[in-house]
Amino acid sequence: MTDTERTGAAQRIDVVVVGAGRMGQGIARAFLAAGMDVTLADVKETDEDRVRYRKAAEQQVIERLRPTGSDSDQVPQLVVCDRESAQSRLATADVVFEAVPEVIEVKRSILSWVDAHVAGDAVIASTTSTFLVTEIADLVEDPSRVLNAHWLNPADLMPLVEVSRSDRTDPAQVERMTELLRRIGKIPVVCGPAAGYIVPRLQALVMNEAARMVEEGVATATDIDLAVRAGLGTRFSVLGPLEFIDWGGGDILYYASRYLTAQLGDRFRAPAVVEDNMANRRRGLQDHTGFYEYDPESTAAYQAGRIREFEELLRLRGPELRADPVLSERPAPPPESDR
Ligand SMILES: NC(=O)c1ccc[n+]([C@@H]2O[C@H](COP(=O)([O-])OP(=O)(O)OC[C@H]3O[C@@H](n4cnc5c(N)ncnc54)[C@H](O)[C@@H]3O)[C@@H](O)[C@H]2O)c1
Repeated sequence: MTDTERTGAAQRIDVVVVGAGRMGQGIARAFLAAGMDVTLADVKETDEDRVRYRKAAEQQVIERLRPTGSDSDQVPQLVVCDRESAQSRLATADVVFEAVPEVIEVKRSILSWVDAHVAGDAVIASTTSTFLVTEIADLVEDPSRVLNAHWLNPADLMPLVEVSRSDRTDPAQVERMTELLRRIGKIPVVCGPAAGYIVPRLQALVMNEAARMVEEGVATATDIDLAVRAGLGTRFSVLGPLEFIDWGGGDILYYASRYLTAQLGDRFRAPAVVEDNMANRRRGLQDHTGFYEYDPESTAAYQAGRIREFEELLRLRGPELRADPVLSERPAPPPESDR
């Protein structure tokens, strides 16, 4: 339990989001929706762009908050400001999220500007989806306060935020960030400085394999998408993939990987940990150990709990999954010989 939860006191935290584009606006909305004030700094250089972006950002943030039932009197304060007035906001900031385009020169220039004006003890979080936090840490003077907070789009709705730290990040700053994210209802996970963090790395494999199946004519785009929404997505929203290896049996994955590698190639080869678990009878629930440990006394209750989660999920999602597809597929291109 955090100090805030223990005392019930809402300690004020100054949050500044630098960059008022898609992610910047979504992050601002996430704080506002949780009842926290936020400063959204629009830092684009030219006057014309500045005014245009600032107006659009303000409008979009307010618009998106309305359907959540926020009473206009109770809407927390959103300050959308330009580069000049952002400087005084940075000077008192506790947390800064950098959300400017994914171009290293732009990140470098904005982060050095942030660094020059920000309070000495503020956490600086990039929202980059590709650069490693180690590269971002090099762009400011004190790397111990730099981390990456990878929000998923739309940032105000998606619960997950992947917090990535470098070897030089102060663990206290990681703790500070994860506590703040929990306070606004997000679900943070922490990972090291590895390309693709957790979600982009997993989803790239799934999306590329789905595209490959369309290319090979295995199934239509509609059927592949439905298979993922009704099968994979439904399953993985209740059981994580490692939990599911244990649930279904590490032996199933071991044999499936061998077969798929022989049929489809090396990208299906199981990593050593899967082979090792198989060799040492750590196949999951059946061995009471795998990626997790299972107490035989409480396993039935654990499984019943997960089944209830599936039932609850399908009660909500079933109608949409059974509805007609909303998209029309692009017709397949003519065979090469007809072109
Ligand atoms: N869009 C996504 O789905 C998504 C998802 C996860 C992470 N991210 C990351 O979030 C960050 C921001 O991405 P985005 O999609 O919000 O970008 P965006 O283009 O929507 O917005 C970027 C903002 O930066 C400003 N900007 C543009 N050029 C600038 C410049 N030269 N100097 C200063 N400011 C400038 C723009 O005015 C805009 O306010 C990126 O690092 C991106 O990788 C994006």
